[in-house]
Amino acid sequence: MSGKRVLVVDAGGRGNAIAHAFARSGAVERVYVAPGNAGSEMMDKCRLAMIDDEVPKSTSELLAFARKEGIDLVFVGPEGYLSEGIVDIFQEEGQRILGPKREATVLESSKCQTKDLLKRLNVPVPPYRNFSDPQEAKEYARQRCAEDPGRGLVIKADGLAAGKGSILCANQEEADSVIERIMVSPRPFGQAGDRIEIEDRLEGRELMFFALSDGRTVRAMQSALDYKQAFSPDEEVAIRLFNRLAGNPNQDNNPNTGGMGGFSPHPWLDEELTERIMKKIALPTVRGFKEISGQEYRGVIYFGLMISEDREPSVLEINVRLGDPEAEVILPRLETDFYQLSTAVVEGRLDEVPLQWSDDFCLGVCAISGRVIKTITSTGPERPGYPGEHYTNMPIRGLERVDPEVIVYHNGTAWGTDSAGNRRLYTTGGRVFTLVARGRSLAQARARAYENIKRVRFNGMRYRKDIGLGYI
Ligand code: GLY
Repeated sequence: MSGKRVLVVDAGGRGNAIAHAFARSGAVERVYVAPGNAGSEMMDKCRLAMIDDEVPKSTSELLAFARKEGIDLVFVGPEGYLSEGIVDIFQEEGQRILGPKREATVLESSKCQTKDLLKRLNVPVPPYRNFSDPQEAKEYARQRCAEDPGRGLVIKADGLAAGKGSILCANQEEADSVIERIMVSPRPFGQAGDRIEIEDRLEGRELMFFALSDGRTVRAMQSALDYKQAFSPDEEVAIRLFNRLAGNPNQDNNPNTGGMGGFSPHPWLDEELTERIMKKIALPTVRGFKEISGQEYRGVIYFGLMISEDREPSVLEINVRLGDPEAEVILPRLETDFYQLSTAVVEGRLDEVPLQWSDDFCLGVCAISGRVIKTITSTGPERPGYPGEHYTNMPIRGLERVDPEVIVYHNGTAWGTDSAGNRRLYTTGGRVFTLVARGRSLAQARARAYENIKRVRFNGMRYRKDIGLGYI
């Protein structure tokens, strides 16, 4: 049997981690990544996909690449491609592809429809209502706040908003201003804000829960404790500086990001809670989705949950993909052959493949493009850094000094040439790389990660120093 050829569609660190998982399969000969980044070529068997000297980006270019290279399996990372229907298009052309079909991506692309569906399926969700009219939304927010002034509300733009469309409001004034901004002006999320969902803020602890589904069988995956806020809580001065430079009125708000790091296994997701979430949330959602839509959900399903003090889960949101950077700390712990597992999902045989995980800990720290130190080459106004405006195109130094057993998944990097004509690695995004270390204990993984990340440098590089702290 000749080796299998896989195409991973993803541009970030999650794509590097998915490609790395495929590359560890004995069945796989080559893993192509598109659009990918410089890190996509740094792992054994992995290459950036190229067609006519260009990286394929659109669905039609990716399809042409898959045909030309005789790709055996395609795995899609981000929601954008999925909600544009890449799975439907590839399947119509007879390609094997892992991910939910377009109709199923509504679970991520419409907060309003998803809450209605979950409510109909008796899957627990916070009290909520959907609105297309800003005045009605404001009136509802006013009533909710008057009933319980301490409660707080969460206002969500209905559509895809790059992870920024969910806003916590402490009182009616904040809710009023958020509704006005999303629905009337300046409408930062565009049409995604034509409708909003307003839900009560629940007390408890947030948990990201990942499962794999072939439409009939649903299996819990391992999870990760992630760090969403840009700064650790003790970085008050940096938080204020960020907000001043970003022009944010609330100087003390620690901004949310796509993720600054995390670790796996999750410290409080035990077997009993996993079973409870499977029974009350994951299974009824996948099965109910099939009953209502007539379609099987195939792929990764990712639930953003609030777990109450008495360990009852409620769904805050659903995503139709793996998380980034959660994938970077979860997938290295997977012991099951990822190609066999993915094929089983595509073929509806997930019940035949056991899911096995290493007992090791993986801890990941994201290096992001923070505030740059002025140099003769960096001109322009001061920028607050990710998740706000940030500079890119900064040369990265020191990656060669990272220990070989420590993994560096690239989120936003590209090769370029410096003024002396040397080929160098440059930053291209807000999140630049996620450095992942393993250990027999969380303390060991953490020590290795922080020891190694210090060896890497780029202008403006910043990372949280507290990933895993408090859990060792
Ligand atoms: N880390 C959050 C996400 O991928 O949505």
